[in-house]
Amino acid sequence: MNIITIFWKSIWELRAKIHKDPLRATGRDLNPEVYPHLAQEISEKLHLVEGDYLIDIGCAKGALDLLLSTKVSSIMATDYSQSMIDCAIMRNSANNIEFRQDNGEKLNLFSQKFNKILIYSVFHYFSSLTKVKNLLIKIFEKLPRGGEVLIGDLPDKNRRQLFPRRYYCEQKGIKRIVEYIVFFLSYHLWQWFTKDSLSEICKQIGFEYSFLPQETEQPTSRDRFDLWLKKN
Ligand SMILES: C[S@@+](CC[C@H](N)C(=O)[O-])C[C@H]1O[C@@H](n2cnc3c(N)ncnc32)[C@H](O)[C@@H]1O
Repeated sequence: MNIITIFWKSIWELRAKIHKDPLRATGRDLNPEVYPHLAQEISEKLHLVEGDYLIDIGCAKGALDLLLSTKVSSIMATDYSQSMIDCAIMRNSANNIEFRQDNGEKLNLFSQKFNKILIYSVFHYFSSLTKVKNLLIKIFEKLPRGGEVLIGDLPDKNRRQLFPRRYYCEQKGIKRIVEYIVFFLSYHLWQWFTKDSLSEICKQIGFEYSFLPQETEQPTSRDRFDLWLKKN
């Protein structure tokens, strides 16, 4: 594991322990009412149906998986943070969900039966674009024909310069300092994506692809986009 992966993994371990609430632990502080809409949006974009076998990479505490579990036959949900997985098992289990600790950068789950993959709000924590590309190559090799992938919440590199200006802090004192540090790290250590570079990768691999806007209004929706992939 390289230094960036170790750094982010430690941050997620910490968040899992500090924030008991599964939504706050994701770092997105979503209004609980927004989450079912997000699950519905994901379900529509990935065309989820009964009979689908879904892998969710970067599941955090499994809040989305519980909502999606009613739409599919089974979910294998993974996260590299053991604390996230422990909490997911305690709070968001269902008969057709299996939670496992695994690093998405070198995922080892492809002996599993699957035809849909969800990677939501995860790729910007990967250590490089090469790791992103390598995972997509691996997915393409193992995905059955007709299989689909949704990569959600990708930070748009063309909006990166607006990110600091849009940033404002309602917190006071130490919380304000913590928020500023989080913002600074996001700006400098995230992967930021352009549609051009992702198009190039998808064409090279052979995926049919399409960029989708986020319909559910999240605080950062204007600065993000989703990417849908299909193996024909
Ligand atoms: C912003 S949260 C998103 C959680 C969930 N997908 C959602 O949208 O509610 C990012 C999650 O991805 C996980 N993650 C980041 N990089 C990962 C990797 N390389 N392998 C596995 N999990 C990863 C983190 O531990 C964290 O739980």
